[in-house]
Amino acid sequence: MSSNEKETTIVAFCCIYCAYAAADLAGSMRLQYPSNVRIIRTPCTGRLEVEYFLRAFENGADGVLVAGCEEGSCHFKEGNLIAKRRVNYARKLLAESGLEAERLKMVNVSAAMARLFTEHVREMAETVQRLGPSPLNRAKTRVQQEIKP
Ligand code: FES
Repeated sequence: MSSNEKETTIVAFCCIYCAYAAADLAGSMRLQYPSNVRIIRTPCTGRLEVEYFLRAFENGADGVLVAGCEEGSCHFKEGNLIAKRRVNYARKLLAESGLEAERLKMVNVSAAMARLFTEHVREMAETVQRLGPSPLNRAKTRVQQEIKP
């Protein structure tokens, strides 16, 4: 684990039917992926509002991964397509507010794709490592240091 990896946090919203199951399978298969990933189990990615992604950044995430079922396989028909639109919209908001859009990404995996899931997580970790800690976190740290007695 690099020092940048230690300093950063990635939040992964994982659909319980596919990505979460793939993450679970990755654990059973003892596949390695970066330890700075915090998985949040969600019923379907379509349930995630734009606000959830923005809140994750506001609360300290340096990267957010949204992992849903493969297109055409969502258990709630179009949840993953709705999520895709929301992620794209949130990426635009991030870019407009000065945060790199690459910090937010949506991927699609099936429950059996443990290896692909770990690759997506690794890619996201590499992206975040390249970009460094979120500017929001850097600003927070600076303010906290300034108000310390
Ligand atoms: Fe998995 Fe909708 S049930 S993304």
